[in-house]
Amino acid sequence: MKTSRIPGFYKMSIDERLKVVAEFAGLTDDEVQLLKTFGNLDPGIADRMIENVIGAMSYPLAAAVNFLINGKDYIVPMVIEEASVVAAASNAARLMRRDQGIKSVATAPVMIGQIQVIGLSDPWYKRMEVLEHKDEIMQRANEVDPVLVKFGGGARDVEARVVEGPRGPMLIVHLLVDVRDAMGANAVNTMVEKVAPLVERITGGKAHLKIISNLADRRLVRSWVKVYKEDLGGEDVVDAIVDAWAFAAADPYRTATHNKGIMNGVIAVALATAQDHRAIEAGAHAYAARTGRYMPLSVWEKDPEGNLVGSLEMPMAVGVIGGATKVHPVARIALKILGVKTANELAEVMGAVGLAQNFAALRALATEGIQRGHMELHARNLAIMAGATGELVDKIAEAMVKEGNVRFDRAKELLEEFSKK
Ligand code: MEV
Repeated sequence: MKTSRIPGFYKMSIDERLKVVAEFAGLTDDEVQLLKTFGNLDPGIADRMIENVIGAMSYPLAAAVNFLINGKDYIVPMVIEEASVVAAASNAARLMRRDQGIKSVATAPVMIGQIQVIGLSDPWYKRMEVLEHKDEIMQRANEVDPVLVKFGGGARDVEARVVEGPRGPMLIVHLLVDVRDAMGANAVNTMVEKVAPLVERITGGKAHLKIISNLADRRLVRSWVKVYKEDLGGEDVVDAIVDAWAFAAADPYRTATHNKGIMNGVIAVALATAQDHRAIEAGAHAYAARTGRYMPLSVWEKDPEGNLVGSLEMPMAVGVIGGATKVHPVARIALKILGVKTANELAEVMGAVGLAQNFAALRALATEGIQRGHMELHARNLAIMAGATGELVDKIAEAMVKEGNVRFDRAKELLEEFSKK
């Protein structure tokens, strides 16, 4: 009987673990060899990044072009498994180059650390006492990370809220920390753990959870852009895009997809630069729902001259120092391609890419529909999979799209047909 109960698995070498998994799953020698191909990630680094490593998996890394953000040109590295996204971003960016391009501004990189204080009969009174000791709490927090303080970061404020929960009221203390160029989870988590005993002393309660909040609503990026109506094919297209946005603003079933389109761009850059993309994703959707109603992260309107104007506001907790950004060599290169030096600049680029990606999707949906572009790329992929090379790839893809029959077996048939000629 096969068992997944494997004591000491984590202590094994990569090869030993792979052998165990290969036996368990009946992997072929070729499959094992493929997993051993670590590519541009050194096995030693991979093995230190996470636990129980048995191999590495490559995704395509692409470069989106045409981005002009705050008057500066950027080539944007994107890692994604979905066709059309990078092409759409590049196309959108091409239409957004007027007037210094996309504007994008990030707030100070302030993250929130939470301390959950339970066991209080008088949380409202203790809230006052916590606020009374604000300076002491911040001072204690700053002692934990003198390097951050030296670089201009550190604790900025203390807030306290009484939150009603299913097990009664809790006092929730927020430590606001400027984390500078880090994503900040490590710095903030260390700080809240270190100040928790002081908070317990002040309140007489129990400091239960101490952890960063991914609803990073003090660390926002704001991006906005004007797309001229003549570049879009007229005011009808502007209206069509604004109507498409109105759908997202009214119906959560559409809002989720609208925001997913934004995240296509944001997360592709996050992956290329080895960010904690789950934190960004969690923050984005929590922020979108902050009013109690899930809303689009962007707004598209028509200006008095009939041009399309778009704006986006969302949390963007990213870092350019520490974590995987530091250890993954490709992430370092991605940052070099981007030419960003600070976490704030990276956040500004990611906001701009999200906005451009969103525009591209809405434009396609509001005009020709999304499937045509998708189908063309899909058809090319099928042609390649069927064995087509060179000019035949486009020829077969075009024929399938024209026939409305984009399928692998048809690609094979066409390949045979065209090869005979
Ligand atoms: C597909 O990955 C993303 C879109 O569905 C986004 C949208 O509908 O706005 C095209």
